[in-house]
Order: sequence, then structure tokens, then C-alpha cells
Amino acid sequence: MRTKIEDVSVIEIPRVHDERGLLAVIEGDIIPFEIKRVYYLYDVPSDAFRGGHAHKKLHQLIIPLSGSFDVHIKDGENKKTINSNKPHKGLLIVPGIWREIDNFSSGCVCLVLASSEYDESDYIRDYDDFLVFKKHQV
Ligand code: TYD
Repeated sequence: MRTKIEDVSVIEIPRVHDERGLLAVIEGDIIPFEIKRVYYLYDVPSDAFRGGHAHKKLHQLIIPLSGSFDVHIKDGENKKTINSNKPHKGLLIVPGIWREIDNFSSGCVCLVLASSEYDESDYIRDYDDFLVFKKHQV
């Protein structure tokens, strides 16, 4: 399937709320993939630019555990910017989507849940290569 920016969705993470605060839980079929890797970005300078690539097969859920950032997504035809700023809302990025992340707030922590272990060969780091990939994406 040739993925489009409309395939990128926001997943609401269920929360338990009482006077002691909020507890957000990721379990069961909240996420449509098996989590094989968890990583997080922190101490990110506000002028940093992250991402700048797409993945061939990897699915990711990106959660602003603390603070906020902008995620710019492209599918080769259309583009969109999502401001991620709620720790109970994750951005589900499917394969074949170019993403750039910037405008990190001070003290921001960005959690990423991923569907496979780190594999550099799954990355497309050149935008022209990405456009070629999109032409043939099945
Ligand atoms: P990269 O995915 O390009 O970061 P971002 O998309 O946040 O800008 O990864 C940056 C570096 O970290 C790159 O050299 C690969 C390495 N890396 C790992 O070793 N393991 C991982 O799980 C990830 C995500 C990156």
C-alpha cells in the first residue's frame, strides 16, 4: 500500500485520573503493532532538527512525554505539520512517511515506541531516494 499522510493518526492513550494525578497506560491493542524497541530523545536543543528520513517497514508511535515539538510529515505528494504536546496523545507514523521534527520545547522528552529493533537498512535518508521509494511502494 502506498501510504499517505492521512494514514498517520493520533492515538489517544487511556488514562486513569484521580487526585494524585494522571496515569496513562499503553497495553493490549492500543497500538497496532508489537513493541520491539523503546527509545527517547531528551536534552534536545530548541533549535535542533531531528528526523529527516523515512522508514521502509518500521511503524512508530511518537509521544511527547513532556513538553512539545512539531512533526512535519510528507508522503511525496502532500505534507502536514502536527504539534505534539499532550503526553496522552501519540502520533502513529506508518512506513513510507518522511518526517522532520523541530521546535522542541525546553526540557522536552520525546518517547518513541517502535515495531522493530534498530536497523539502518530500513532508513531512507535522502529525499530523492524517498520519492523513488514512493513510486514503487506496494
Ligand atoms: P536517527 O534515527 O537518525 O535520529 P532522529 O530521527 O531522532 O534524528 O538516529 C540518530 C543516531 O542514533 C543514528 O546514528 C542512529 C542511532 N540510533 C541507534 O543506534 N539506535 C536507535 O534505536 C536509534 C533510533 C538511533
